[in-house]
Amino acid sequence: MSKRILVVANWKMNPATLEEARNIAQKTRRIASRLTHTDVVICPPNVFISVGASRTKSANTYLGVQSVSPYVEEGPHTGEVGVHMLRDLGVEYVIAGHSEERARGDTDAEVSKKVEVIVNENITAIVCVGEQTRDDGGAYLETLSEQIRNSLANIQKRNTKNLVVAYEPIWAIGAKDAMNPEQIYETSLFVKKVLTDLFGQDVAMKVKVLYGGAVNAVNASDIIKIGKVDGLLVGRESVHMSGFGELLRIIDGINL
Ligand code: PGA
Repeated sequence: MSKRILVVANWKMNPATLEEARNIAQKTRRIASRLTHTDVVICPPNVFISVGASRTKSANTYLGVQSVSPYVEEGPHTGEVGVHMLRDLGVEYVIAGHSEERARGDTDAEVSKKVEVIVNENITAIVCVGEQTRDDGGAYLETLSEQIRNSLANIQKRNTKNLVVAYEPIWAIGAKDAMNPEQIYETSLFVKKVLTDLFGQDVAMKVKVLYGGAVNAVNASDIIKIGKVDGLLVGRESVHMSGFGELLRIIDGINL
């Protein structure tokens, strides 16, 4: 049996209307329903959660969100959405520590708190990590290792079944080109090594490591084949259905 590939569609703050959101979600589900070894997580903005919630058309489409509150009790937290509320709406994946959220002030400590509340609710946390810049001396590996360790500080080995790590070099997010697939391979191995140090090899083998940053239908195949990652986190392209549909079909056609 082929290995399953996970594709996370991070819609970010798109699209502009509910009708468009419904359209994108329906098309994504329809395409996903024809895929044989690809799972798709739709992460719309919270106001559009309802459009991603139905799994009637496709058993391999899941609902995710882009962020969550670190608070677990209902109460005076204006603007926050609790993880238990998301679970009640059928959310199965939550992105934590996206660099755009980190840039707005989330520290590793806050990310680790969010990861903790997500996995404790038996939801899968997609934890984003990635260096701001690369240097020839390899200092970025130290940064990456620290970020992974700190972001996962509150997660127990038994909860790692609810963990996905998305490696997203910040310089590639929103950029024209993705990182080259050989570098993606090297770095994803490094991520696995840090996970091995933290939780042991058995866990590190099972935790999916995704790549994100300027992924599209043109580069996706090499990223999976040469980069050897377990899936992709797709931003911009995930709301453009012609490109995203093609990307999904290409990925699904790879024999792993
Ligand atoms: P991008 O974003 O695909 O638009 O580069 C990826 C991400 O931020 O998750």
